[in-house]
Amino acid sequence: MSQALAALYAQHLEQLTQEADAALSDCGFDRLLIAAGTPRLRFLDDQAPPFAASPHFLRWLPLTAAPGSWIVHEPGRRPRLVFLQPRDYWHVVPEDPQGCWVEHFDIVTVADEHAARVELERLLGERSAIVGEDGAAGSDLAPNNPPALLARLHWSRACKTPYEITLMRAASRIAARGHRAAAQAFAGGASEFEIHLAYLAASGQAECELPYANIIGVDAHGAVLHYTRLERARPAAPRSLLIDAGGQYAGYASDITRTHVAPGQDDFAALVASMEEMQQILCLGVRAGQSYPALHEEAHRLLGGVLAQHGLVRCSAEAAFEQGITRAFLPHGLGHLLGLQVHDIGGHQSGPEGGRTPPPPEHPYLRLTRTLEAGMVVTIEPGLYFIPLLLEPLRAGAASGEVDWARVEQLAPCGGIRIEDDVLCTRGDAHNLTREAFAALE
Ligand code: GLY
Repeated sequence: MSQALAALYAQHLEQLTQEADAALSDCGFDRLLIAAGTPRLRFLDDQAPPFAASPHFLRWLPLTAAPGSWIVHEPGRRPRLVFLQPRDYWHVVPEDPQGCWVEHFDIVTVADEHAARVELERLLGERSAIVGEDGAAGSDLAPNNPPALLARLHWSRACKTPYEITLMRAASRIAARGHRAAAQAFAGGASEFEIHLAYLAASGQAECELPYANIIGVDAHGAVLHYTRLERARPAAPRSLLIDAGGQYAGYASDITRTHVAPGQDDFAALVASMEEMQQILCLGVRAGQSYPALHEEAHRLLGGVLAQHGLVRCSAEAAFEQGITRAFLPHGLGHLLGLQVHDIGGHQSGPEGGRTPPPPEHPYLRLTRTLEAGMVVTIEPGLYFIPLLLEPLRAGAASGEVDWARVEQLAPCGGIRIEDDVLCTRGDAHNLTREAFAALE
C-alpha cells in the first residue's frame, strides 16, 4: 500500500469503528465478532467452490484469502484479528499479515480452527454480536447475526469511504483492460469462449477471481440477460457482442457492460449509439438527493424515445412508456449498488433500522429503491433487448399495433444492447469510474 492509501485506510477504519460502536450501542451489544468464513464442500464431495470471504470481514481488512480468521471489535479497544495460518502442505498457507492495516490491529496467529475457537472463546463475553454464515464456527461461536445490527451496518455500507473508492477505481481499471482485449478478440472473429480467455488474460484474473461470471453473448445470445454458456464454436458472420464483465480488487468489484457491433450492421450500430447517448444522460442524473426509482422511470421514458426514433414503435415516446411497451424491451432495473458485492446489500432497505422499500410492481427487478447519497457507487445500465419470451405477449396484446414487427425482426438477430458504467455519487457532479478507467488506458 502506498502512503496515501495507508492514510485513507486509517480514516476508513476510524469511520468503521464509529459505525460499529454506534450499531453495538443501539442494539445492546458489547462486542462484534466477524467471521471471514470457511470453504464449504460440495454435497458428498471433498471439493469446495472457490472461497469467498464474508463482505463484513472484507470491509475491515483487505484479506481475501484468510478462511477461518476472525475480527473482534470492542468499543474503546484496538480491533483484534484472530488469524488462521494452518500448518499445511496440501494448500497455500495465508502469508504473514502485511500491509498498512497491520499496525492498527492486535493480531493473534493460530494454527488450526480449534486454537482459533479457544482464542475467541477467551474474548467472548455476554452480549456478543457474531456475524458470519451459518456454520462459521461451532458451539458458543455460532453466528447470531442480529438483524437490527446488520441493518445498521448494511445501511452505512452503501456509502463508500475514500479508501473504498480507491479500491473500486483499481477494480475498474482491471476490467477496462479486459474489455479492451475482448473487443479486439471479437473484431478478430473469436468465439465467446476465446473472448472470455482474452478477457481473463488481459485483466490478469483467474476465473475464480471474477466478481461474477462473465456474460459474453454473440448475436442473439445478447438477449439472454445472464448468458454464461460461452459457446466454443466461432460464429460464421458475427453481428454483435454484449459483454458484461467485471474486475475485483481487494474484494471490491467493478461491473461493466459494453455492446460491440460488427461492420455492416449499420442500423444496429445506430441503435447502440442512441442507447449510449441515453446512458450518458442517465449517468449525469446520479447525484445526492436523486431518487433512484425516479431515474429508472426516466430511463424508460428515454427508451420510448429511442424506440420511436429507430422505428421500432409507431407511437410517440410517451405512448410507448405509458402503454408499458418499453418494459418488454427493458425488463431489468436501471442498476444497483456496487461494492464488496456486485449487487451490494441494502438496495431495498428503507432506513438504518431496516424495513424494506420494494420496487414498484411494474418494475419488479429494480434492485435499488433508495435515494442516492454522496459516496454511493451505483451502476447505470439501461438496455434494449429482443427477448422472444417478452415480445410474444406484447405482440398478442392490445399494444401490438404500436410496434413495427418487421423492424423488430430485422434487428432481433443482434440480440440486445446493454451499456453499463459504475458511477460514484457526490453532492455535485457524478464521477464515472468506468469512463475514467477506459480513458486511463489510452
Ligand atoms: N453484471 C451482472 C449483474 O449485474 O447481474
